[in-house]
Formats: sequence, structure tokens, C-alpha cells
Amino acid sequence: MINDKKVLYSGMQATGNLTLGNYLGALKNWLTLNEEYECFFGVMDLHSITVRQDPAEFRKRARNLLALYIAAGLDPVKNCIYYQSHVSAHAELGWILDCFTYMGELNRMTQFKDKSAKHSDNINAGLYTYPVLMAADILLYQADYVPVGKDQQQHLEITRDIAQRFNAIYGDVFTIPEGYYGKKGAKVMSLQDPSKKMSKSDENVNGSIYLMDDVDTVVRKCKRAVTDSDSEVRYSEDKPGVSNLLEIYTACSGKSIEEAEKEFDGKGYGEFKLAVAEAVNSVLEPMHKEFDRIIKDKEYLDGIIKENDDKARYFANKTLRKVRKKVGFTDIPR
Ligand code: TRP
Repeated sequence: MINDKKVLYSGMQATGNLTLGNYLGALKNWLTLNEEYECFFGVMDLHSITVRQDPAEFRKRARNLLALYIAAGLDPVKNCIYYQSHVSAHAELGWILDCFTYMGELNRMTQFKDKSAKHSDNINAGLYTYPVLMAADILLYQADYVPVGKDQQQHLEITRDIAQRFNAIYGDVFTIPEGYYGKKGAKVMSLQDPSKKMSKSDENVNGSIYLMDDVDTVVRKCKRAVTDSDSEVRYSEDKPGVSNLLEIYTACSGKSIEEAEKEFDGKGYGEFKLAVAEAVNSVLEPMHKEFDRIIKDKEYLDGIIKENDDKARYFANKTLRKVRKKVGFTDIPR
């Protein structure tokens, strides 16, 4: 508990460009969580280097991601928005927890298996211990809740296992986190292959709408989105392309599926796709304006970063001190 509120922790990696799927599925739902929870949202840049990064590009991406969090509406005063790499306690606790994690457990992680298949030229130890660092992220802040998608559920499970194991040896050190399954975000699929999730790592750039895409690009991608051979705008399992566009349209416009189906009754896909693009742009345009303002204002952004780094460090170090003591490290004379 912090300030009588339960703690919620999440973050995104500073790799790739955020997509509309990241926004509608996750980020958008984060915006109001601070009303009920003490929220921490990290830019998970330590995790990013499990895959080789170009330094200049990486630095820019990480800064853009933080600015985009704010531009999307995350209040940097009410939420702690910070860089994981600025709080060294993450790496320290990560190491300690490595020593409480079994290789057998890590061998079972499906994401590790997938990623090592994809990056077979660089299967580094960081990729392997990635879930342990993630456990450290969560446990450092004594998080009660972690909003995670399906792909991260296994990592949350191992976090709970590690925490329970540690607690069983040393007493009540860590809060055991639970998944947060509050308001469900929209599930946005690839525009080119609606059986796949829209992803920032998709090689087909036409499959994803990136949050930084300009108006014309959004229109072009929506126009090219796969549909089907009839012309009915209807939400149905056997119409995955159209259903996905409806999901996007309703999430961006605030209308219900029924309202949308009625609106496009008797109209063709062409008209529908343009309306989808317009709805998406009505969400993205104000975000771009905010982003431009924030990213140009170095003093403002640096101020926000400094304050939030300090706040994150304060809570993280509190837990780390406790862990150091429990494990039996000698005191650091001050
Ligand atoms: N692994 C997460 C992802 O790729 C990012 C992440 C790192 C994270 N540490 C976290 C998410 C802690 C939630 C909590 O999506």
C-alpha cells in the first residue's frame, strides 16, 4: 500500500513503435487507474537490450515512448512514469532473484522459446533471465496488481512463484502480485491478417497502425485492410477483417457495435473504411499535437523525468534495503 492505495505496476518495452493495438488494448485503460491505485508505469529499457539496439535510435525511442505515455493522457504527476534503467535497484534485485529462480522454470517460458527461435544468432543470458528482471520490476514496488496481456501471463506466474519462494525463506518481504483484469481493452488484430494480434514487431507495416502514423498513412492502411468478399458491415466470427475494423471503429468513436452496424447498413466497405480511418485520426491527431509540444520542451520533460525517477527510486530502494538485510549482505557504512 502507498498512500492507502493498492499498488499497480506495468510497463512497455522501448522497442518498436507503439501501435493502435498497444493504445486501445493497454495504454488507454491505464489512464484512469490512478484514481484507484498508486500507479507505476515503466519504460522497460533494460529489457530492450536483450535484443541488439542501435544506441542513438534506442535513446530516441525510449524518450519518445515516455513522451508518448504523457501525450496519450497519462498524467505524470498522478502516475510514476519513469525509465527502468534510471533505477539501479531493478538490476540489483534482478541478480538476487536470479539466485532464487531455477533453470527448469525458465526453460518452460514460451516467450524465451519463441524469441530464441527468432533471434537464433543472439540467444543471450539476458533473454533467458528476462522473466526474473520482470519479477524484480514488479516486486520492487510491492505491486498488488499487474495489468498484463495473455503473452505476459506466464511471466506473472513465475513472478508469484519467485516471490512466494523468497517469502517462505525470509518472511513477508514481497507482496504477491495478481493480474489486473479490470476494464478489458479492445483487442486489435493485424489489418493484413486478422488472425494475428496487431504488433509493433510485425514485418508487414501495413498490418499495424502506429501511433505516430500521419493522417494519410492511416487512410491508406485502412483502405488496404483485408475484409471479405461480401459487403456487409457486420460483427461476426466468420468476418474477422470487418469485425476487427468494427472493433477499432467503436473503440475510437465511443459508439457501440450495434450503432456502428446500423450506421453502415447498406453502405459498402469503401465508405466504412474511410470512417474507420477518420475515427482513428480523431484519436491520433490530438496525441500528435501533445507529443510535439512535449518532446520539444526539453526542460519540462527533463523535469518530469527527474521527479519520477526520484519517486521510483525511493520506493524501489526501500524494498531493496529490506531484501539486502534479509539475504545477509553487510551494511554499507554511511
Ligand atoms: N515484458 C513486458 C512486455 O514485453 C514488459 C515488462 C517488463 C513489464 N517488465 C514489466 C510489464 C513489469 C509489466 C510489469 O510487454
